[in-house]
Amino acid sequence: MTETSKTQALRIAGLDCFYGEIQVLYGLDLVLNKGEVLCLFGRNGAGKTTTLKAIMGLVRASAGSISLAGQELTGLAAHEVPKAGIAYVPQGRRLFAEMTVAENIEIGLMARGKGKAVRE
Ligand SMILES: Nc1ncnc2c1ncn2[C@@H]1O[C@H](COP(=O)(O)OP(=O)(O)OP(=O)(O)O)[C@@H](O)[C@H]1O
Ligand SMILES: [Mg+2]
Repeated sequence: MTETSKTQALRIAGLDCFYGEIQVLYGLDLVLNKGEVLCLFGRNGAGKTTTLKAIMGLVRASAGSISLAGQELTGLAAHEVPKAGIAYVPQGRRLFAEMTVAENIEIGLMARGKGKAVRE
């Protein structure tokens, strides 16, 4: 692995997450390098969605590190995480059904402050 690809990686190390007093993730580690596809498998309730929510700042990390291209994400508010360069496409559609496809994309772009180039 080159130094460049290392710094572009999503890295999770020792991640613990809780819902209230119940611990769901125990020291989770993973590395995802640029250009790779990673599938996370597990039985129902294993913690897959919790892992994705933790990456996006929607569930707090109680311990451990989540970094993207060297930037620590765990301290960021959820609305700051996408600006670091990562997106979450949740299970379920959650689109605005009354709006056009273009309008739905427009809503997504609002959060990033990057109009035309990303839309294209
Ligand atoms: N909001 C919540 N409050 C309390 N417990 C939760 C909450 N969300 C998930 N859990 C619990 O945390 C554990 C992990 O759930 P999670 O949704 O991450 O699993 P999953 O691997 O995505 O499962 P599935 O395959 O069903 O989507 C489960 O025991 C679940 O009941
Ligand atoms: Mg799930």
